[in-house]
Amino acid sequence: MRKGEKNIILIMVVSVVSLVGVKFYQNAGETEEDPGIPYYTTATPELTSAAATLLHKHNCQECHSLWATRDFTIAVPAPALDGEGSFRDRDWLAQYFDAAVPQDILPTRLKPQYRHPSYAHLSDEDKTTLTDYMFSLKVEDWYREQTEKRRFEKLTGKKWAANE
Ligand code: HEC
Repeated sequence: MRKGEKNIILIMVVSVVSLVGVKFYQNAGETEEDPGIPYYTTATPELTSAAATLLHKHNCQECHSLWATRDFTIAVPAPALDGEGSFRDRDWLAQYFDAAVPQDILPTRLKPQYRHPSYAHLSDEDKTTLTDYMFSLKVEDWYREQTEKRRFEKLTGKKWAANE
C-alpha cells in the first residue's frame, strides 16, 4: 500500500469513528417521550418531615405503599397512598383519621388484622398533620384514571371493568 492510500484509509477510519461517536453523543442526550412521574405533593418541607415521622412511627408503610416504598415483607392489599389528596377532600380525611371505626366511613373487605387501624387516639396535632399530608398527595390528570382503577381494585378486590 502506498503512503497516500494509507492516509486515505486512516482518514476514513477516523471519520467513521467520529461520526459514530457524535451520533452516540446526540442519542445520549435524547430522551424518549417521558411524561415524568405522575405523583407529587404540595406539602411544605416542614409538613413533609412531620408526616414522615408519623408515617414511620405508625408503620403506615407496612400496609400502604407511598412514593414506591413499602414494607414488602408484609402483604396487605391496602390501596397505595400516592395521589390520595386528588380523590378525597380534606374533611373526609380528617373524619377518617378521627374515626373510632374507620370502616364505618370506608368499608373493608379484609380480615380484621389487615384493616386500616383507628388513629382516633392520636393528638389533634398529629391527626391534622396526617390529614394535611394525605391531602397534599396529588396525581397529575393524565394518570388519574389509572390510579383510580388501582385504588378501586385494591379496595374492592374486583376488576375495574366490572365497574364500567
Ligand atoms: C394494618 C394495615 C394498615 C396500616 C398500618 C395503615 N393502614 Fe391505612 N388502610 C389500610 C387498608 C386495608 C385500607 C382500606 C380500608 C380498609 O380495608 O380498612 C386503608 C385505607 C387508608 C386510607 C383511605 C384510602 C382511600 O380510599 O381514600 C388512608 C388515607 C390511609 N389508609 C392512610 C393511612 C395512614 C396515614 C396510616 C398510618 C398512620 C395507615 N393508613 C396505616 C391498611 C392500613
